[in-house]
Amino acid sequence: MIEITKLKKIYSGKNNKVCALNNISLEIKKGEFISIVGPSGCGKTTLLKICAGLIKPTSGKIEYVGKNGKRIGIVFQNSVLLPWRTVRENIFLPLELQKIKNVQKAKKSVSSIVELVGLNEFTDCYPFELSGGMKQRVAIARALITSPNVLLMDEPFGSLDELMRNKLNIDLLNIWRKLRPTVLFVTHSVSEAILLSDKIIILSDRPGSIKDIVTVDLKRPRSVDMKITKEFQEYVKWVRQKIELNN
Ligand SMILES: Nc1ncnc2c1ncn2[C@@H]1O[C@H](COP(=O)(O)OP(=O)(O)O)[C@@H](O)[C@H]1O
Ligand SMILES: [Mg+2]
Repeated sequence: MIEITKLKKIYSGKNNKVCALNNISLEIKKGEFISIVGPSGCGKTTLLKICAGLIKPTSGKIEYVGKNGKRIGIVFQNSVLLPWRTVRENIFLPLELQKIKNVQKAKKSVSSIVELVGLNEFTDCYPFELSGGMKQRVAIARALITSPNVLLMDEPFGSLDELMRNKLNIDLLNIWRKLRPTVLFVTHSVSEAILLSDKIIILSDRPGSIKDIVTVDLKRPRSVDMKITKEFQEYVKWVRQKIELNN
């Protein structure tokens, strides 16, 4: 479980201060799929960075409760792959940085992750040989290689066309079902958030605070076809209204 309590983040520059997040309190259960939506600049990336421990909050706290502690994987909007390394070598990188002892076993786990994300035929390719969607698959594989129990994803499919995004959404759900990490997924797309999530956190304009939380009760496994159902469309309308609501 992740417990976030009264989180606040102020960036202090030379001449100005920017309050990016204010009074964020949130409980996320183990294995939940949570999306975060909100206007540009409202602090979504800041929230993920705090969750990852990359930056510190100004006040408030975040706790990872439970015996497993935290093992975090991150996927960014840009795949940030090393251009001189093949797919396999890019995925292997986090293990290399951890200086793992059992290299043979690690190589095996690279192979199974490669299969899981559907990259089998591309393991020896270089990033420039891959489409945008493929690069994001590599980024996901690289995040999963250390068996994270928390997967943080910052608009990972934001630059993909709709068909590719749909495909990756469904593949991500299948991976999530198999490995069951807790997922925090930032997106601009309301329909993507609904398709994927158990809950959607709606943030206000900066400083981002929690405006509302919507529970998505659509049955699982989800499919792209669900998007054209009346029930799904009702969710879209409902979430949009909540985003646009002034408070
Ligand atoms: N390192 C930083 N220093 C100063 N201000 C920052 C920094 N990172 C983000 N900000 C500011 O904090 C606010 C929230 O940014 P961010 O978390 O990136 O928002 P989002 O991901 O929702 O678009 C923005 O106004 C942004 O300009
Ligand atoms: Mg951002």
